[in-house]
Amino acid sequence: MKQFFSVADVDNLSGIVDEALGLKKNPFAYEQLGKRRTLGLVFLNPSLRTRLSTQKAATNLGMEVMIMNMDKDGWALETKDGVVMDGNTVEHIREAAAVMGQYCDVLGMRSFPKLQNREEDYSEDLFKKFIRFCGVPVVSLESATRHPLQSLTDLITIREHWQKEGKPKVVLAWAPHVKALPQAVPNSFAEWMCRAQAEGLVDFSIAHPDGYALSEEFTEGATITNVLDEALMAADFVYVKNWSSYTDYGKIYSVDERWLLDNAKLELTNMAKVMHCLPVRRDLELASEVLDGPHSLVVQEAGNRVWAAQVVLKRMLEQL
Ligand code: CP
Repeated sequence: MKQFFSVADVDNLSGIVDEALGLKKNPFAYEQLGKRRTLGLVFLNPSLRTRLSTQKAATNLGMEVMIMNMDKDGWALETKDGVVMDGNTVEHIREAAAVMGQYCDVLGMRSFPKLQNREEDYSEDLFKKFIRFCGVPVVSLESATRHPLQSLTDLITIREHWQKEGKPKVVLAWAPHVKALPQAVPNSFAEWMCRAQAEGLVDFSIAHPDGYALSEEFTEGATITNVLDEALMAADFVYVKNWSSYTDYGKIYSVDERWLLDNAKLELTNMAKVMHCLPVRRDLELASEVLDGPHSLVVQEAGNRVWAAQVVLKRMLEQL
């Protein structure tokens, strides 16, 4: 594997999930694979889970890890070509990425969207340039439009907790928030679940209020409704997440509080397990009674971030 940026970088979903669950059973089976190899993790935005789980995954594979908090410790980056750098930016992504590639065998980068210009964010210009100029395999730690390590984790978690015959019904449910959040996690979850549905692994639905439709690029094949209760009927997994508007880009509208998932709403489901990528705002985005109750998988899900990162790094190391 040369890059891990979207579901398109994986040829067989069942295969990668099985391999990740194998690593969970035997974390140190490949501890020689990454000996004398270096992983560089570049953060332009905050992180708890992605940073720690990817570092742990790399350590399990015998790698050294270097972390660069570009937003706090790095030079201000210029990403546009053809500009005279006489403003606040100090270093161009062309040199910065190429230099990091000199020190590292594999690189990861996190860069959130600005949520001001949809075309600019969805062009993924920064990520594409980073991949192009660093010269080594790159794993996305979340880009403007996708969070593939999270989505792989989510698929692993669904597989691990689905012990029945047939396919689980998986619902992505929009949730309230007070801030404008990116569409990266829901885009990515939808993209991975649509692919999983096409491979016969799940049935996938999305519920969101009017005005919050995701780009069709990520939702082809999903059943989509504006009625949460309708989507929750007989759901086996409910993936709760807020996102800002894609059509009225980056905007948020006030919506009815009935979009908050609580125990009463869970009664509509098939004793569904509840997932969230975290961090989560309690009793705004998801009811405390759900987070603290037996339906919640959020901590186990975060734990599985290690195995998603480890299987991706393992595949990259095998092709160095
Ligand atoms: N879910 C997730 O990516 O968490 P962090 O933002 O803390 O890394």
